[in-house]
Amino acid sequence: MDSAPAVPAHVAIIMDGNGRWATQRGLPRIEGHRRGVETVRAVSRAARDLGVRMLTLYAFSVENWRRPADEIGALMGLLEHYLGRELDNFRREGIRLRTIGRTADLPAGVQARLREAEAATRHLTGYTLVLALNYGSRTEVAEAARAYAAAVAAGREPADAASWEHFRRYLYTADLPDPDLVIRTSGETRLSNFLLLQAAYAEFHFTPVLWPDFSRADLEAAIADYQRRERRFGRTSAQVQPAGV
Ligand code: IPE
Ligand code: IPE
Ligand code: MG
Repeated sequence: MDSAPAVPAHVAIIMDGNGRWATQRGLPRIEGHRRGVETVRAVSRAARDLGVRMLTLYAFSVENWRRPADEIGALMGLLEHYLGRELDNFRREGIRLRTIGRTADLPAGVQARLREAEAATRHLTGYTLVLALNYGSRTEVAEAARAYAAAVAAGREPADAASWEHFRRYLYTADLPDPDLVIRTSGETRLSNFLLLQAAYAEFHFTPVLWPDFSRADLEAAIADYQRRERRFGRTSAQVQPAGV
């Protein structure tokens, strides 16, 4: 008997292509980011409707500080505005907001909104929206290694028994499950320092669609693609096939 293929519990998206979307239309890049925020709202809702439990969105990387100051300023302004506008919606729709990344380096106004939204939605458990903000895997690992070493020095971690299960508790994602599906829009096929360790066994879906154009149908297509994959986690195909199939 065939059971319905599972919806990925945790989907992570590298939202890319806002700038190209705008440039193609003769608009300033920031217009693409503004449209990208609208896509965030629509895709977050679609993911929840489709049964996804956690959605992680790569919104700003540690490398994105290399962009022109006016673009960074505009992105931070959009983020602050989005958080202010969405809080009621998060509460109403039972969405828990979380962040991963060095949020302490973000503008004070953004930090205040994040604290407010995280505190107000902490108790909600049905669906979690994780914003990766000032996130970079290598920074995350370096910070975790420092904290882990300090814990070993203080006798809080065994010095002779380093394991992934111990170390992962020092990552930003300590209390979050690994992503099942990682999507990248805009045709680029790289990770750009996103969840390098956590995506060790994720399935990947790359689409040429630019983020402002990414729709519910595109998310459904990505999930359908995921559902055709066989996740083996090192085992053989025969081992992971349910008996009788
Ligand atoms: C993604 O779109 C948004 C961020 C990285 C903040 P881009 O701004 O990278 O768009 P492209 O890649 O220049 O088209
Ligand atoms: C990755 O996109 C970061 C985010 C989506 C926030 P970029 O557009 O910054 O990635 P690169 O520089 O093209 O690799
Ligand atoms: Mg880009």
